Amino acid sequence: MDVKKGIRKLDISVKSKLLTGSAFWRTAECADIGMEAVTVSDGPHGLRVQDKMPNHLGMGTSHPSTCFPTAAAMACSWDTELGEELGEYLGREAAAMGVSMVLGPGLNLKRSPLCGRNFEYFSEDPYLSGKFAAAYVRGIQKNGTAACIKHFAVNSRERGRMVYDCIVDEQTLRESYLSSFEIAVKEGKPAAVMTAYNKINGVYCNGNERLIGGILRGEWGFDGLVISDWGGTFDKVASVRSGVDLEMPRCDFSATEVEKAVKSGELDERIVDKSIERQQAFSAAAQRVRREPVDWQAHSDFAAKCAENSIVLLKNENSALPLGKSEKIAVIGDFASNARYQGAGSSLVNPTKVTGVLDAVKSSDLNYIGFERGFKRDGGRSVRLSDRAVKLASEADTVILCLGLGEGIELESCDRSNIDLPANQTELLARLSALGKKIIVLLFCGGVVETSWDKNCSALIHCFLSGQSCGTAAVKVLTGEVNPSGRLTESFPRALSEVPCAEIYNKYAYKMDYAEGIYVGYKYYGALGKSVKYPFGYGLSYTQFDCSDFVLTDEGVKVKVKNVGGRDGATAVQMYITAPRPELEHSPAELKGFKKIFLRSGEQREIFIPFDEYSFRVWDGENSRWSEGGIYKVQVGFDSLNMLFCGNIQRGASPAACDSPQSYKEYFDSRISPVQPKVKHKKGDLTATVMTEIYDLRYCKGFVARLFSFIASLYSRSKDEILSNSMTHLPIRFIMLFMHYNEVQVEGFLEACNGKFFRGVKKIIFKK
Ligand code: BGC
Repeated sequence: MDVKKGIRKLDISVKSKLLTGSAFWRTAECADIGMEAVTVSDGPHGLRVQDKMPNHLGMGTSHPSTCFPTAAAMACSWDTELGEELGEYLGREAAAMGVSMVLGPGLNLKRSPLCGRNFEYFSEDPYLSGKFAAAYVRGIQKNGTAACIKHFAVNSRERGRMVYDCIVDEQTLRESYLSSFEIAVKEGKPAAVMTAYNKINGVYCNGNERLIGGILRGEWGFDGLVISDWGGTFDKVASVRSGVDLEMPRCDFSATEVEKAVKSGELDERIVDKSIERQQAFSAAAQRVRREPVDWQAHSDFAAKCAENSIVLLKNENSALPLGKSEKIAVIGDFASNARYQGAGSSLVNPTKVTGVLDAVKSSDLNYIGFERGFKRDGGRSVRLSDRAVKLASEADTVILCLGLGEGIELESCDRSNIDLPANQTELLARLSALGKKIIVLLFCGGVVETSWDKNCSALIHCFLSGQSCGTAAVKVLTGEVNPSGRLTESFPRALSEVPCAEIYNKYAYKMDYAEGIYVGYKYYGALGKSVKYPFGYGLSYTQFDCSDFVLTDEGVKVKVKNVGGRDGATAVQMYITAPRPELEHSPAELKGFKKIFLRSGEQREIFIPFDEYSFRVWDGENSRWSEGGIYKVQVGFDSLNMLFCGNIQRGASPAACDSPQSYKEYFDSRISPVQPKVKHKKGDLTATVMTEIYDLRYCKGFVARLFSFIASLYSRSKDEILSNSMTHLPIRFIMLFMHYNEVQVEGFLEACNGKFFRGVKKIIFKK
């Protein structure tokens, strides 16, 4: 069949309906052009396949599937081959469950440790994020399943995610927030890209011609499917025009907008045809997915392998670890019996089984003497729990203390307000430490916490949110069966106030200025010579590694790595490059290559870390292009703040003129926080449109608007954080979509909100 011809022949009323899904998790379908609907599903570290009460917030039930370690955990393995393998496992499960597109991986940059969804993302570094995302995509797509990278772009905060506007200069946009996507697109070749909810410099990502048509499709040559985030289409015509092919989920009123725009000449019909063509190709490819049964036990075992390679040993005083078989072990902490292994929201997986630390300790060779919960997970104080834990600990030689953040802290649509561990946990640690026992802390959370309390423990292991087999993996590390090799992919500052965007990030602002520019995470600490508690790239092992014979060539760096300790183990060697940027007072060293290497005790091997197209480029703001030139500093080390070798390399004649926005200077001089508050309305002065926030409906004329706003405010007081935060700042278009309103009902709703009660309500009821 000639698909293009077939599409051209379709009536515009039919075509315009094909630009939105046919159901919550199904893409559009059209028999005339042989286009079948495709099932899509979250997500990034396991499948969330729903058939009842579909929703995009992780509420309700889903079919069991393997919960693999989250991206935040996996990236700490620094092993992209393992990431690719994990992708294959995801692809296999998807295929077996009838899913043809996995909505992931997510690769937004961790601008601040406060972002509620950081556990879903790889790193504070764009290069590492891009490489990992590309690896996942290659893996997922091996059997024909499509991967959909998300959220494009600059989405680095959850609160107000549908309304805020990221004000980013071009250099920061290109070098930091887009580079990861560029790498993932070029090296992973994903079938699809999902747009982010937020705006960039005043324009919604969905509908952003420059971002989608210009950069993604134009500059990077992406010809796959671009889809909206769920309910993340804000101006349908702009969305289609920008190159977004599919609005998700099903939206009953947007087809009319497209049809009208085409008929009036506002929208070129060829753009509509092209989107349908891409969808048709996508749907045809989905029919070729190889679907085979899954060996669930093998998948659970693989989840353990991933976790084993990701766990990060942060402290190991006097070789407290690995544990000896004769040590009397007490296990303490709510997180030991009730494992925390994933975050909440759309990525929530219903795991096939869960092995927490307590179960894993009990079935190990360790000399286990008992368990106490120790503290309440929700932060509430309990002297009884604490006393019981102290009593048990006094009978032990060693305490395995499982601490972490509860389910209500790291989640979609909410941000954290601090980076502290709940005080009831640190207080218990202090009490246990006073007993003079060996205390090993296992930490279960999705990212950064302040760790001044670690003076009270002999060893600290960060398990992150490492999937359903987290306990198995952690206990293997404790016993030494696995030698830890994970390294941090985000910096651990001593306090939140040290984070470069600390003063800006959590203020509720409709315009969020990215004033710290490219100085995110280690780039800031490194360039300004600031120390942190645990730097990006850091992680300990039960053995030691040495590097020697550093050779810098035009193609990359060679270095010999030796395992000089008494145990076999793996480490990640990292290459950082500092570009000459005469306009900047502090040019950051940036990660531009890495290699994970396994060595037997005493073994030495030479590794080569090649340069690539991202190694030397900087954004040349004057000419709006990438360029390179001048003398670059190339360094190699085991973390971002402690370099072992340094060499210089000349590339081209002179350094590129980079943007160096004036704001950097202001930022470093005074750390101003250019927060712009929201426009204030008065009662009755606001005319509702589909883009009005539910919250603002209270300023509209109509009683219906105020009633609606009141109902939403009840939701926003709900105990369910995801629901309450989601309801606070939502454009009403989103609600219309979920209520399956048609265009007449939308019109009616707006009229009712704007004071024309009877006319509006009539339209809502009679749909005409
Ligand atoms: C999230 C996406 C997710 C989608 C579908 C949205 O709320 O931002 O990451 O894929 O829901 O569940």
